[in-house]
Amino acid sequence: MAEFSALILAAGEGKRMKSMKSKVVHKVCGKEMVNRVLDSALSAGAVQAQVVIGHCADMVKDAVGERASFVYQHEQKGTGHAVMQARAFLEESEHVCVLTGDTPLISEQTLREAMRVHTENNNDVTVLTADFSNPYGYGRIIRKEDGTVLKIVEHKDASEEELKVTEINSGMYFFKAKSLLNALDSITDNNAQGEYYLTDALEIICRDGGKAGAYIVSDCDEIMGINDRVQLSVGEKIMRRKINEKYMLSGVTIIDPDNTYICDEAVIGTDTVIYPGTVIEGKCVIGKNVYIGPNCKLTNAAIGDETDINISTITDSTIGCRTHVGPYAYVRPGCNVGDECKVGDFVELKKAIIGNGTKLSHLTYVGDAEVGSKVNFGCGTVVVNYDGKNKYKTIIKDNAFIGCNSNLVSPVTVNEGAYIAAGSTITDEVPKDALAIARARQVVKENWNDRRKK
Ligand code: UD1
Ligand code: CA
Repeated sequence: MAEFSALILAAGEGKRMKSMKSKVVHKVCGKEMVNRVLDSALSAGAVQAQVVIGHCADMVKDAVGERASFVYQHEQKGTGHAVMQARAFLEESEHVCVLTGDTPLISEQTLREAMRVHTENNNDVTVLTADFSNPYGYGRIIRKEDGTVLKIVEHKDASEEELKVTEINSGMYFFKAKSLLNALDSITDNNAQGEYYLTDALEIICRDGGKAGAYIVSDCDEIMGINDRVQLSVGEKIMRRKINEKYMLSGVTIIDPDNTYICDEAVIGTDTVIYPGTVIEGKCVIGKNVYIGPNCKLTNAAIGDETDINISTITDSTIGCRTHVGPYAYVRPGCNVGDECKVGDFVELKKAIIGNGTKLSHLTYVGDAEVGSKVNFGCGTVVVNYDGKNKYKTIIKDNAFIGCNSNLVSPVTVNEGAYIAAGSTITDEVPKDALAIARARQVVKENWNDRRKK
């Protein structure tokens, strides 16, 4: 198949979003709309991509990163004008796929198929269309009597007759780059909106003897444009269903797909079960036979096989195999919890390395610490890592036993096999196999209550 480049129009303001942000950086299932469009184009085989930016340009640039080049459209004078800014990019390409940044549901397969039809028919332009029962607002596809495509008429410029047409312009096209470049020279702003319409390119190409075709997209959802937050929620729901179906068909059980929110960057192993109310976002890698939920939030988390996570939040951290997390655990960035550990209820971890078989069963905070294997934390242990100014590191070695309600004032080291008596505030290093008691001795005053009563 011939090569093609992708040009994504994303300079518009998107007024109807009523947002301080560019429309195309709003997320659908955890990923910016413009990145969803770009992902589909690149996976469909686009050899390079350029994004036309203008409104909130830096925001869009930051979201896209280095996967595309950028060109500025300083004033937004229409989709045709946007493409004119990318002339240099078009000159480098044989075919170009023009997409809009606000149609995040477009799939790789549809683009691939449309490109195939475009080249097989040797078209100069192939527009992606769909049949909409309610075509309101969209450009209409006007065909000749023999069925070939003649032109696209914008809703605002359409006659009564033309408004009755239900085949709409998706705003996505494949062009021979040369034909598009030629047509751009002839586009004017002589229309209802005083804009340079990209849609006019099709009529100009036909007029000049070029060949236009349409590729009718069977799944209308894919070309849904997102212009306001109601449509954003509809798009999110459709995308969510598709993503969840992909995981279910690959061997993951999702108890209630309508109530499970997974970003499609996640890798999830076979026979993992996800309970309702769970959000999995960013680059998560989840093993086999893992139980997650209900009500968990995992962000960029790596979870080992056979671990279970219940009503907990895990961010930018790794959890080993056969470990229990939760209910109500909070694992903050920079943690690496080993195999067969327990991170129980109301345990908070931050930048903590926890060795295999270590148990933090309840009500414990461990931050900026390196903990060995088979350490036992009693209920209510606090690693005192912050003096109000600086953070310090605590080291707890293998097989140590930390009694309930202890404070470990950092920087401090508890050596292998050491015991900390319950209620201690530890400020100095505890030697190997020692017992440290750091609390006042109990005083018993016999018959004290009798004296008080008198
Ligand atoms: C466009 C099509 C319409 C089609 C519809 C599908 C035109 C003239 N009309 O209309 O036929 O049915 O898409 O959704 O092309 N943009 C720029 N610079 C501009 C103007 C727009 O970059 O100067 C970008 C926007 O950021 C957006 C995209 O182009 O991502 C589409 O623009 P929009 O104004 O939403 O076009 P529609 O009116 O929806
Ligand atoms: Ca639009």
